[in-house]
Amino acid sequence: MSHKRAGGLLIALLLAGQLFSQAAAAERSAAANYILRCAGCHGTEGKGVASAGIPTFPGYVDEFFNDEEGRLYLMHVPGVVGAGLRDDEIAEVMNYVVDRWGKPSVAVEHFTTEEVSRLRKQPVKDVVLLRYSITDRLAQEGVELPEYTWP
Ligand code: HEC
Repeated sequence: MSHKRAGGLLIALLLAGQLFSQAAAAERSAAANYILRCAGCHGTEGKGVASAGIPTFPGYVDEFFNDEEGRLYLMHVPGVVGAGLRDDEIAEVMNYVVDRWGKPSVAVEHFTTEEVSRLRKQPVKDVVLLRYSITDRLAQEGVELPEYTWP
């Protein structure tokens, strides 16, 4: 191999490495934010605590992603409102949740920073009522959602 070609290859490898580590950093920060700001309630396996009104994610959480009102709801759950995260970090950690615990057979639309900003600006008076309105509507369509103990 000529020196020139070897140099080109080295640069290509360095660039690829840099891209890879950027992607890994985004992934790491979503996982780290989940552990720091979410796992205290939702658990490291996303199972929640049904008796404490913390719904389980696995196999259910994608239903909210695929519903317009559900997406508004997700941006107003208390753990997200109070997390002190930037909109881009919220998008990342929510996408992390659905990538890990959504049904693998269901395609979901990921959040973008723009959508997070827009939905967070929309006022939601009562997040519990909003969830009931979504789950009642989905139940009529035959979609089951996890038990929820809030009055
Ligand atoms: C203090 C406990 C707590 C923390 C911390 C918390 N959550 Fe939650 N989360 C809840 C509760 C309780 C609900 C149920 C919604 C409600 O009653 O308002 C919920 C609902 C959700 C839901 C919708 C699931 C459903 O079935 O309704 C998602 C998704 C979610 N949280 C994601 C997160 C993410 C992401 C974080 C971290 C940035 C987070 N939560 C931090 C308590 C928490």
